[in-house]
Amino acid sequence: MSVPLKTMITFSERTDFDLAQLLRLYDRAPWAKGRTLEDARRMLGQTDLAISAWDGPRMIGFGRVLTDYVYRASIWDVIVDSAYQGQEIGTQIMQRILEHPDLKQVELFWLCTRDKQSFYEKLGFSANEQTGMVWARAKHARLE
Ligand SMILES: CC(C)(COP(=O)(O)OP(=O)(O)OC[C@H]1O[C@@H](n2cnc3c(N)ncnc32)[C@H](O)[C@@H]1OP(=O)(O)O)[C@@H](O)C(=O)NCCC(=O)NCCS
Repeated sequence: MSVPLKTMITFSERTDFDLAQLLRLYDRAPWAKGRTLEDARRMLGQTDLAISAWDGPRMIGFGRVLTDYVYRASIWDVIVDSAYQGQEIGTQIMQRILEHPDLKQVELFWLCTRDKQSFYEKLGFSANEQTGMVWARAKHARLE
């Protein structure tokens, strides 16, 4: 069930929030489920830009960027609370990233998605230009 936007949704770049709020969002995404507080704290400390969306004290959306501020930026962990999806919150998080003053020189933004291509295509992303490859530690455990 979606929540009507009666209250004002705010956006923040702060990273000193209660990490339990982020873990609650992560737990709703199959690719982020089970992430720990300790790892998330370390991750946030090394993340160049994090945008979170808030309904009062409740984190309802998140997205983050790793970048060299010149050539490349990659976007990770874009997620909106299921009760708030379809209300442009994901779009606003993405726009705040793509239009961020610190990233205005970045030549190419990159992200990977399994099944949300249409969401990103609406923001101007294209799947045609390059393909990504990944090396997943969990699949190579026997080599260690
Ligand atoms: C994908 C996600 C971030 C979109 O956030 P949102 O706030 O619901 O999206 P918006 O309301 O800004 O939607 C913008 C457009 O994208 C489309 N869209 C939204 N969610 C979508 C989805 N799950 N799949 C495909 N398209 C989607 C909408 O149709 C909308 O287009 P419209 O305005 O023409 O109707 C959100 O659905 C989500 O968190 N999903 C689960 C986590 C996830 O898989 N994240 C992607 C990681 S790669």
